[in-house]
Amino acid sequence: MSEEAIYDKHLDVFLLWAARETGMLDELLDGPVDPATVAENAGVTERAAEVSLAALADMGYAGQTDGGYEATGELDGFRPETDLLDRGILPHRIDSLDHYTNLPEIMQTGEIPEHTEAGLRKYMAAMATIDDSTVREIVTTAEHAHPRPDRVLDVGGGPGKITKEFRRRGADVTTVDLPPVVELLRSQHEEDGLDVVAGDAREGLPTGFDLVVSARMILSFSPEELQGYFENAHEALNPGGTFMCTERVWDRSEMATRFAVHMLTVSPTGHTYTEAEYRDALGRAGFEDTDVVDVPGTAFQGIIGHRPE
Ligand SMILES: C[S@@+](CC[C@H](N)C(=O)[O-])C[C@H]1O[C@@H](n2cnc3c(N)ncnc32)[C@H](O)[C@@H]1O
Repeated sequence: MSEEAIYDKHLDVFLLWAARETGMLDELLDGPVDPATVAENAGVTERAAEVSLAALADMGYAGQTDGGYEATGELDGFRPETDLLDRGILPHRIDSLDHYTNLPEIMQTGEIPEHTEAGLRKYMAAMATIDDSTVREIVTTAEHAHPRPDRVLDVGGGPGKITKEFRRRGADVTTVDLPPVVELLRSQHEEDGLDVVAGDAREGLPTGFDLVVSARMILSFSPEELQGYFENAHEALNPGGTFMCTERVWDRSEMATRFAVHMLTVSPTGHTYTEAEYRDALGRAGFEDTDVVDVPGTAFQGIIGHRPE
């Protein structure tokens, strides 16, 4: 690794994290403000304020006016007045850094710090940043497995990007997510006219669907929970229906091992399971013609099973 790579690769996220922790970030959001005032109000040295603000400006997070430094639009995600699902991934990235600094302890104990509502908000904002082409590729891969489904169940739909793409293509879609997520996103879902049900995929699902999908949901599930979910998905389908969950498969996705480490920091259980493990669980849940296919242009695979007629 070159010397440059050390401070090129991660410095922005570390600097934003330190700025958030010290209160410099709030000063910047309330700007314009000069380094001396930031130093005084945030309780940091003037040297720290000067170099940090200059670096944040170089990185595009701050701009300079006659009155000093002020936050650019890149930091709008930290403003409480920004709509929840428009806050972007940056606040969640900073939270993830917090989690990564806990890794040594997590590795030793297997215990993760408790999730908070503030963390959930940032997680959902981050999930809403999934790019449109990935959403389209996931939905197209599902439609190859089950052309023109009438009734679709999107399990763990979160902000609803995949739900909306199925709906745009003419399907009648129901979305399921955990109660705290449904509560948090209620007004956004209502605004979008989504049909959302609170529930837990490990415990049971609504029934009567041609296609049951989930994306990026099961990585926190233990093998037993995974099995329970697959059985519930089978039950949710009409005979002849299809199930596809989109994940990073351990022995197929270039991102799988790194993502498994990320999951260590946020979930006490779970894995990016192998293709054989997924296929075995699908078979035991009653699915036939199982398959694991790459979702084109993404690091995801579609794990597919069909409920016999
Ligand atoms: C990473 S997000 C993905 C959201 C969406 N599927 C997407 O790909 O943009 C995972 C979602 O699954 C939901 N989830 C996790 N465990 C669940 C469970 N047991 N039952 C239902 N939803 C669950 C989470 O609350 C979250 O909204």
